[in-house]
Amino acid sequence: MIKHHFIYNIYVDWAFDLERAEGSYLWTNGKRLIDFTSGWNTTNLGWNNVEVSEAIIAQVGKNTYTPMWTADAAQIEYAKLLTAALPAELTAVGRATGGTEANEMAIKTARAYTGRKNILGFQKTFHGQSATTLAIGLPAPYMEDSVPASSHFIQIPYPQTYRSDKSPERILNDFAGELEKALAGRDVAAIVTEAGIITGWGSVYVAAQGYLRVVRELTKKYGTVMILDEVGTGFSRCGKLFGLEVGGVVPDIVTFAKGISNGTAAIGAMVTRQDIAEATFAKSILLSTFGWTPIACAAAHRTLQIHQRDKVWEKAARDGEHIMNRLKKELADHDRVGDIRGVGMEIGLDIVKDKRSKEPAPDKVEAIVHQAFVRDLHIVCDHESTIQLMPPLTISRPILDEGLDRLIETVKAVK
Ligand SMILES: Cc1ncc(COP(=O)(O)O)c(C=O)c1O
Repeated sequence: MIKHHFIYNIYVDWAFDLERAEGSYLWTNGKRLIDFTSGWNTTNLGWNNVEVSEAIIAQVGKNTYTPMWTADAAQIEYAKLLTAALPAELTAVGRATGGTEANEMAIKTARAYTGRKNILGFQKTFHGQSATTLAIGLPAPYMEDSVPASSHFIQIPYPQTYRSDKSPERILNDFAGELEKALAGRDVAAIVTEAGIITGWGSVYVAAQGYLRVVRELTKKYGTVMILDEVGTGFSRCGKLFGLEVGGVVPDIVTFAKGISNGTAAIGAMVTRQDIAEATFAKSILLSTFGWTPIACAAAHRTLQIHQRDKVWEKAARDGEHIMNRLKKELADHDRVGDIRGVGMEIGLDIVKDKRSKEPAPDKVEAIVHQAFVRDLHIVCDHESTIQLMPPLTISRPILDEGLDRLIETVKAVK
């Protein structure tokens, strides 16, 4: 759809004009909506967070730009804060403008480090909009007209438990076998994955317990770089500051964007080990004119400070549990609800034709999204059957409950 000269290739119902946004509310056309999207895991600290805006204004008075071959105080201070919040091994930062660019940097670094070309990803995952990052996990029909097929990308199924008659242990075991087969030829440069949950393509599939440990062990064994994409899972979304804490692993490279600056300024980060950075920087080009502008760094700095000061992840874990409990209590028996799953405050509500067949019901999902909008609740869904719930992590309990009332009422009302 083209509207106001903008090209939207996302569901038409979502393309409303945003007039104002604050905390957990969005205003459009005289309506005030409760937001259950955080702009897709971006405004985790609430829309138009005043403290983050103040940090930007203060930085404007100091310096607004520094070229790629220099370093500004705002960048240096932010790099210190970010790396101090991560496992001790991860100390070297690539300065990017967003998630796509951070993941591109990670892939170039992994290829330069290993001398290998192949990248392994998971089916129906999203890691960015560039031709390379799309190829990691996007289904072929979405790519065939714009991204040339490449034998350098291998996609395997995600080891998730929904719609499977195998036990989680068996799923993990079979996955380990398949992954080992794919890596054993020692020609895979990197595996790109999120931290045990798919946030990017909207399915909110949760991996069988122990997944990240299996990935870590096998990537170490076969000299493959483990790239953890924390663009969606980072910044308290999953009940910990970072998703890697949920899985208890240290990847070789981690990437961030979205919640990193609470949506105020374009910034992404690739963070890796010193030895990897030293072995690769001369063999790869990681330059970005707008990567880490001082303004974006000031915003990201204040964002991370707020997460740490308020331990936002603790509230996210509590509220996530509350959402799961309410949805399970009030919707688990509903014939159209196939599954309720999630980690922290990243929750998937799977809508099906009926409980017995568990067949996806994309028309019903779209109808629910539309009807929720009519009831002043903004939600989004994937391309198949899942509503992806990502409320701002700072949402108050009464507003959260009001939003859940509207959601539950809508799911029950759509026939
Ligand atoms: C998991 C994941 N990785 C990467 C990206 C790309 O980030 P960006 O839109 O900042 O380029 C996204 C965007 O939706 C994402 O969800």
